[in-house]
Amino acid sequence: MLHPEATASVLGNAHMPPSSNLATQAARVPRHVAIIMDGNGRWAKKRGLSRSDGHRAGAESVRAVTRTARKLGIEALTLYAFSEQNWARPQAEVQGLFTLLVDFLTSERQELHKQHIRLVALGNLARLPLPARLALQAVIADTRHHRGMTLALCLSYGGREDLVQAARALAEQVKAGTLEPAAIDERAMANALWTSQVGCDPDLVIRTSGEQRVSNFLLWDAAYAEFVFAACDWPEFGEPQFQAAVTEFSRRQRRFGAV
Ligand code: FPP
Repeated sequence: MLHPEATASVLGNAHMPPSSNLATQAARVPRHVAIIMDGNGRWAKKRGLSRSDGHRAGAESVRAVTRTARKLGIEALTLYAFSEQNWARPQAEVQGLFTLLVDFLTSERQELHKQHIRLVALGNLARLPLPARLALQAVIADTRHHRGMTLALCLSYGGREDLVQAARALAEQVKAGTLEPAAIDERAMANALWTSQVGCDPDLVIRTSGEQRVSNFLLWDAAYAEFVFAACDWPEFGEPQFQAAVTEFSRRQRRFGAV
């Protein structure tokens, strides 16, 4: 686990300018980083603030981490913004989260363009409130040609739910006579998932707030991902913490089941 105090040592000289770290990391950056952004509520509670304040601060971390990922040359960044299970939260909190999403899409639209970032959304999007769906559709259409980085927002997402909808889609094709059951292999399955929009599996999954659970995130996709757990809450996770996680990744030996 990356403890906040350990961040400086993981990064080497804490006083080094960020660009030095960026240069030394260039050869070993993960292609795809996925993040479970956890701890907004606890961050707020520790400060006597509301959960909505925590989510608002969390949205700032989304901005910082997106910028850093692009700067590091990461091809895809997937963020777990709202799980299928999060619908069970109080209505005011849910509403607040989708208002924040619309604000984020409105304020970042130009920046995404400038940074050549393609936005995609993964999940059961039909459940989202209309303003959020419309804002997403507009930015997704607007940025679809960009190839600098893919930013994937998981919204009303669950790994099990993704597997279920993929199985159903494949079953429909079999029923229609366009797919042989024997032709269902890993590639067919992967292509039927919401996450196929990203284009590659995550190499690195980060979870903040000290919790060490997978929480229904990228269950198929993260089969060979490296996991890094950061002790800080999501609103405290910015450029140095992200770089520390990437450095930790670069030290891992990946064997993909071989020796
Ligand atoms: C989990 O922390 C966080 C969420 C369910 C929401 C994540 C949302 C954001 C980071 C802000 C908005 C997102 C975008 C893309 C603009 P928690 O609230 O469950 O934390 P807790 O476990 O401490 O209560």
